[in-house]
Amino acid sequence: MTTDVLLGLQWGDEGKGKIVDVLTPDYDIIARFQGGPNAGHTLEFNGIKHVLHTIPSGIFHDTNINVVGNGVVIDPIVFKKEMDALKKLGVDIRKKLLISRRAHLILPTHKFLDAASEASKGKDKIGSTLKGIGPTYMDKTGRNGLRVGDILLDNFREKYDFLVAKHEQILAFHKFEYDLKTAEKEWFDSLASLKELEFIDSEYYLNTAMNADKKILAEGAQGSMLDIDFGTYPFVTSSNTVTAGACTGLGIAPGKIGRVIGIFKAYCTRVGSGPFPSELNDETGEKMRQIGKEFGSTTGRPRRCGWLDLPALKYAIMINGVTEMMMMKADVLNEFDEIKICTAYSYKGKKIDHLPYTFNQEDLTPHYVSMKGWNSEIKTDKNALPTALIAYIEFIEKECGVPISIVSVGPDRTQTIMMDKEKV
Ligand code: GDP
Ligand code: IMO
Ligand code: MG
Repeated sequence: MTTDVLLGLQWGDEGKGKIVDVLTPDYDIIARFQGGPNAGHTLEFNGIKHVLHTIPSGIFHDTNINVVGNGVVIDPIVFKKEMDALKKLGVDIRKKLLISRRAHLILPTHKFLDAASEASKGKDKIGSTLKGIGPTYMDKTGRNGLRVGDILLDNFREKYDFLVAKHEQILAFHKFEYDLKTAEKEWFDSLASLKELEFIDSEYYLNTAMNADKKILAEGAQGSMLDIDFGTYPFVTSSNTVTAGACTGLGIAPGKIGRVIGIFKAYCTRVGSGPFPSELNDETGEKMRQIGKEFGSTTGRPRRCGWLDLPALKYAIMINGVTEMMMMKADVLNEFDEIKICTAYSYKGKKIDHLPYTFNQEDLTPHYVSMKGWNSEIKTDKNALPTALIAYIEFIEKECGVPISIVSVGPDRTQTIMMDKEKV
């Protein structure tokens, strides 16, 4: 069996968590491959609303295993809170959650370094979630990091102290004030919870599973436009959020990747700084934010809102090799008379249909096509979709050359419309 990949095509928060939960019954294993507690994946079912940060979104089903892969960065404090919240809901995580020994650990000082770095950037700050993601991946690629497997080594404390001493020198350079003692105590206490779980060589585990015909779904975090290489650098996260990240973040060979499922919202959002060509700083954007409840799942920050951006979407489809798409939050546009789609930009006097290497948002003017809104509720019956919604879906499919296999019309598991299977 191959591994299917599910990932975000925009700037994150597309609704990946909801769809992973919906698709989990079709899979044996759900595996996260990058990112860490900067992610916030929301699941709603049976009146429960739950936000997951590091734990894969298949955790509420009893029939499958969830794996935190080597490409993920783990903060034991956040992880313990996630475990405790799931235990309260009666989820027996020890039986169905495995962690890669090679996943890197977020130390308390990584979070201080994140805050110090953002403070030093002033108005150019990234708008990081301040979860320590950037500094942890820096230590990984700088070959200084601590990994989950190290927790069980005799010299773990020594390794920890060595790295913290390095961090303290940088924090002193930044003249950053922090309380390490308190944070450190909570961190070491939380390691006990992490140790309740089985640490595995996830690359062997997943490849053995594939050879035994098990079905794996790789769950992406963030979105393609936040990718460290292909996103709107430097306003990005510090990992490869694209399909290639699933190969390196799980140890799965490129030829073993099957379906690539790209998730996108029927409009666009972004949280944090950085260019967003189709952003609406007006009452239309505010209407999207209110109806779509566009406030961050991890930080609570208001998300910036705007129309669907096709050049950016097509770019993400190209980089990821997307084989099918799923359109989320169509219901949020139920009360709009007119819906616009950005199809190109004007940049330095020229019309272009790609994002430039680097640009200021104000230098790009979006070109829009205007479509009629459907102005009605959407029933969860694919045969009863409003004509204007069908036109919207078909326009996107034609422009992108990729079929839309699911249309989501509400946050709950059940508010999901399966489109024609034969198109996929
Ligand atoms: P993720 O990070 O990609 O998993 O997405 P988030 O959970 O951060 O943000 C998506 C938000 O939209 C969550 O609050 C979901 O409950 C909600 N959501 C998901 N799908 C839909 C949908 O089709 N309609 C509406 N109205 N809300 C949705
Ligand atoms: P999910 O998985 C939306 C954004 C932050 C910031 C930038 C860098 O829920 O879609 P970082 O903390 O990684 O240093 O932040 O990336 N960001 C996200 N935006 N959804 C996410 O995850 C995000 N994870 C990071 O707002 O602009
Ligand atoms: Mg999110």
